[in-house]
Amino acid sequence: MASIKAFVAPTAPSTETFRADLFKGKVLFCTGGGSGICKGMTEAIMKHGASAAIVGRKLDRLQAAAKELTAATGQKCLPCQGDVRQPKTLHDAVAATIAEFGRIDFVICGAAGNFLAPISGLSENAFRTVVEIDTLGTFNTIKATIPHVRKSKGAYLHVSATLHWRATPFQAHVSAAKAGVDALSNVLAVEEGPHGVRSNVLAPGAIAGTEGMDRLSAKGKDAEKRDMMYPLGRMGSIGDVANVGVFLFSPAASYVSGQVFAVDGAQEHIRTFQ
Ligand code: HXC
Repeated sequence: MASIKAFVAPTAPSTETFRADLFKGKVLFCTGGGSGICKGMTEAIMKHGASAAIVGRKLDRLQAAAKELTAATGQKCLPCQGDVRQPKTLHDAVAATIAEFGRIDFVICGAAGNFLAPISGLSENAFRTVVEIDTLGTFNTIKATIPHVRKSKGAYLHVSATLHWRATPFQAHVSAAKAGVDALSNVLAVEEGPHGVRSNVLAPGAIAGTEGMDRLSAKGKDAEKRDMMYPLGRMGSIGDVANVGVFLFSPAASYVSGQVFAVDGAQEHIRTFQ
């Protein structure tokens, strides 16, 4: 297998696949948009002409991210402080977005929490915290945005994972939470389809340069074993995920709803024997 060092991951989202004005006049509302994969997806969508509101707990981080996103794309970005566990803060963020841009077309439910811990080491509050951020936070975001997304016949994208497809040790809390997210998206797709609203899930694998990888990756493993984990010879990049997000919001995906898309370079198919 080729060494992962031989490949350079495309870190920036592509602007060459779709036409530059693909999302002109559209508005994205993204929770967790201040960093990582969600920031990358926001950048990709803004690069195609959309304005965006990004929601997160830390206002200073959001303000810095909004500045960067506008500088990179030339589009407006509104930082909205909010915690997806608190519905009122989401309703306030939606109201600010409507006041600024007048509409919401696309929603990314991306706010998430994670850490490695065995079930025996998880307090009840630790488990609840992650379910509240990931699953309840997704529900709260849907509730706050749905009237506007119906109006625009828009679409949802939920950032989930692949780790709950099999039993991933030390990830019981996140596995339960993300399974709930996938289920919510499917029901949303079926219930809101008649209103012209689509809902899909993105399931990133190991994506370099994300807080999730920093928190989860076993550091210092020998390179050869690590290379075996990547069929495409490299880790995924934020750009890899962002480009799939652009596709799923685009009219090219107009009949795609209620689906889960792994962006993991076939990692999920690997079975190794000791
Ligand atoms: C065991 C832990 C823990 C750990 C926190 N807790 N870290 N338990 N091991 N390492 C427990 C605390 O002790 C507490 O329980 C409870 O969790 C809540 O912790 P708080 O710090 O009070 O909560 P809060 O400030 O709301 O922080 C939430 C958080 C934190 C999830 C714990 O890590 C966070 O804010 N994360 C946001 C950023 C993040 O995680 N991004 C990565 C997403 S990546 P007690 O009982 O003591 O009260 C991702 C990708 C998945 O989701 C897929 C990857 C492939």
